[in-house]
Amino acid sequence: MSIMEWVFFLSTLCTVLSTFCYAGTYPKAQNVSWFSINFKTLLMWDPKPVDYSYTVEYSIIGQNRERNPHCIRSVNTECDLSNSLVDLKATYSADILSEPPYGVNSDLVEFPHTRSDQFTPYTDTLIGRPNFKIKVSEDEKKITLNVEDPPTALFNQNEPKTIRDVFGDDLQYKVTFGKATSTGKKTKIFSSSQIELEGRDIDPGVSYCFNVQAYIPTRSPDKRLGEPSQRQCSPSNDTSIFDEYGIGVIAGFILLVVTLVVVTIVVAVVCCKRKSKADKGKEGVPLKPV
Ligand SMILES: *[C@@H]1O[C@H](CO)[C@@H](O)[C@H](O)[C@H]1NC(C)=O
Repeated sequence: MSIMEWVFFLSTLCTVLSTFCYAGTYPKAQNVSWFSINFKTLLMWDPKPVDYSYTVEYSIIGQNRERNPHCIRSVNTECDLSNSLVDLKATYSADILSEPPYGVNSDLVEFPHTRSDQFTPYTDTLIGRPNFKIKVSEDEKKITLNVEDPPTALFNQNEPKTIRDVFGDDLQYKVTFGKATSTGKKTKIFSSSQIELEGRDIDPGVSYCFNVQAYIPTRSPDKRLGEPSQRQCSPSNDTSIFDEYGIGVIAGFILLVVTLVVVTIVVAVVCCKRKSKADKGKEGVPLKPV
């Protein structure tokens, strides 16, 4: 066949298999990434589709591909796979396929696709900030932090699982603490969600401030720490003058003192002037003999 005949043949083929030639023009997904916190796991990508759709296929590496019904021929650029990645310790990857719009048929077997990075829920999901409550013992020698294990996006029956339900003994908490009045800080790691500090760690009756974050030592070093909690401080016993009276009262008191000082000075100046005038008036009057 001559070149012209080839071109004619190919263009005819393309007309017949128009879906194929059309499908070949669907843009591939870009910037594919995983966002996962407390096992809420989203796969996200660009760009927004115009006249096509995306289908997500995921699998444990080397096993059969599966699909999530919400992420088939969809116009969204994200897919929630939280409850699809059932084996939390398995390593998954996903393909994002650019396909014809929903309801448009295609005989094509292969669409443009982009592969995600690998993702292992158990070791990769970020652990969010925990809440905790502070309790000081009666004799003030012990401070207890009751940490609320953050809930996950996973369910057991109808109950959300906490990170403790998932990680068990792999979950520890790192506590960073120091006296409220100083910048010095100590850290300590605890395996329980009920954290007790006493003895050499704390001085009785002093206010301490705490940050708590999940710590999972079985993970790779850069993924061991969760998000730090809000800082919280225990009440202090030796009440300062500020605690006792409040800033307003103290400011009022200072203002009063300043006013008194000013009034005293003014009065003194005025009196001195009068006195010196009076003295001048006496000039020339001979001193009375004593
Ligand atoms: C991919 O991400 C880069 C950097 O954030 C951005 O500049 C680019 O526009 C993104 N691609 C698409 C298709 O949106």
